[in-house]
Amino acid sequence: MDDLGKRLSLDWTKAHDVVPLEKELNEQSKILCNAKQLLSSKELEFTGWLDHIEGEALDFASAIKEDVKKLLSYSDALVVIGVGGSFLGTQAVHQAMNQSSHHSKKGFLDKPTLFFAGYHLDIKDLSELLEALDGYTPSLVLISKSGSTTEPALAFRVIKKYFDDRFGKEESHLRTTIITDPKKGKLREITESHKYKSYSIPENIGGRYSIFTPAGIFPLAISGIDVESFIKGAKQAKKDCLDPSHNSLDTNLALCYAGVRNILYSQGFKVESLCVWSPKYLGFAEWWKQLFSESDGKNNSGIFPTSALFSRDLHSLGQYFQEGEKFLFSTHITVDDEFSLSKGTVKKSILVPDSDLEDGFSFVSKKDLFSIQKEVEFATIMAHSDGGMPVLTWQFPRIDEWWLGYWMYTNMLACAIGGIARGINPFDQPGVENYKKNMFALLGHPGHVEEAKKIKNRLENSKRLKSVSVSSQI
Ligand code: PA5
Repeated sequence: MDDLGKRLSLDWTKAHDVVPLEKELNEQSKILCNAKQLLSSKELEFTGWLDHIEGEALDFASAIKEDVKKLLSYSDALVVIGVGGSFLGTQAVHQAMNQSSHHSKKGFLDKPTLFFAGYHLDIKDLSELLEALDGYTPSLVLISKSGSTTEPALAFRVIKKYFDDRFGKEESHLRTTIITDPKKGKLREITESHKYKSYSIPENIGGRYSIFTPAGIFPLAISGIDVESFIKGAKQAKKDCLDPSHNSLDTNLALCYAGVRNILYSQGFKVESLCVWSPKYLGFAEWWKQLFSESDGKNNSGIFPTSALFSRDLHSLGQYFQEGEKFLFSTHITVDDEFSLSKGTVKKSILVPDSDLEDGFSFVSKKDLFSIQKEVEFATIMAHSDGGMPVLTWQFPRIDEWWLGYWMYTNMLACAIGGIARGINPFDQPGVENYKKNMFALLGHPGHVEEAKKIKNRLENSKRLKSVSVSSQI
C-alpha cells in the first residue's frame, strides 16, 4: 500500500439531511457493539470467515503459486462453474480489475480469460460458451460448497463432456479442479473417488462469506489478481472494524453502515439500491445483493437490496428515485482516482475535444470526462436527497485489490453485525430450499415422490384463471 494516507469513507450526510440520524445512531451504538461482540465471540455457527483471512487465506495464496503457474503453462482461460457465493465475488473482482466489455480479443491486459457457467439453466448461453471455448485452451474449476447444487452440477456434466471430447479423458481430468467442503457432500466423494485435484472451503464458512477462501482466491489468482494484496486489505478491515477497542461509530465503517441501514429500515426505507458509476463495477452490486438479501431477508423482514448503474439509470430509475414513493434509499460507490486500474493501458484522461458541431456542449470543451462525471455524481446525490431519498456514499481512494478486499470484508462485517443487532441469523438461508423442493419433485428426483404427487395434483385441480395468450400464424 503506497497510499495509507488515503482513506475509504462512508459519507451519510445526504442521508442525515432526509432522516436525522445522529441521535438514533448514538442510541443504537450499544446494540451494535453487543452484536459485534457476539460475532467476535465465535459462539455463532458459520463465522469461520472472520479469522480465515488472518493466516489460512494468506498461506493458501502463497501455497498455490506453483499450481497457478503450472495450470497457466497449458491454459489461457479458466471456466469457473458455480452459483451464488461460489462465483459472484470472483466475477465482481475480475470484472472490475481485468475484464473489458469492449475487448473480446485474447490477452486483454495480458491476463488469462475467465468464463463463468453454472449460474443459470439457459441453453443458448451455455452453447455460446462452448463455441467460445473453441478459441481457447481452457481449464475448468467446479466450485460448490454443498456439492449438491443443481445448476453447477448440470453445467459441469456438459462442460466435462466438451473437455473429454476435445482433450481426451486423461487430459480433461488434468484440466479439472474441484473446490468443495473438506469432508462432506457428493462432490467431495467424487473428488476422492476420481482423484481430482481439489481445494477445500472450510466447513464453518458459508457461500456468500467465502470470497477469501479457495472459492475466490484460486480463480482470482489464475486471472492474475494480486490475491495477497486482496487478503491483506480484508485483514486491515478486520483490524479496523472488529478490534474490541474500535467501538466508535465515527470511525468504524462496519458499525456505522450497519447502524445507518437498520435505522433507515426502521423508518420505513425498506429498499436499498447500490448505485455504481461504471459498468465495470456492476459485479459488486450482484455480489452485494446476494450477501445482503440471503443474510437479511428473514422472518418476513429485512431491507430489499437492489442496484442501479449510473448514469445509464438516471434515464430510467432516476425518475422513480426522484419522485416515486419514499421507501428507497441509495448507497453510491464513487472512486477518486478512476484510472487507477487501467494505468498504462488506457489514456489517463479523456478531454472533451473542441468541435465545430453546434451541439450546445461547447461549455464543457477541454474539460476532463472524469471531472464531468464527478460533477454529475454530486448533482445526482444532491437532487435525490433533496427529493426525499436518503443517500449514502462509499468513497474509494482508488480501485485496486487492497481496497476491494477492504470494502468486501467491511460489508460482510456490516451485514453480520446489522443482522445480529436486528435479531436474525445472517448466516443461514432456509428460504432458498422451497423452490428446490418443487424443482426436485417436478424433475422426478427419487427422494421427492410424495411432493411430486402433491404438486401434480395442485396443477391439475388448479382453480387459477388461465393465462392470456396470442399465437402467431404466419
Ligand atoms: O450463501 C450461500 O451459502 C449460498 O448462496 C450458496 O453460495 C449458493 O447456494 C451455492 O451453493 P454451493 O456452493 O453449495 O453450490
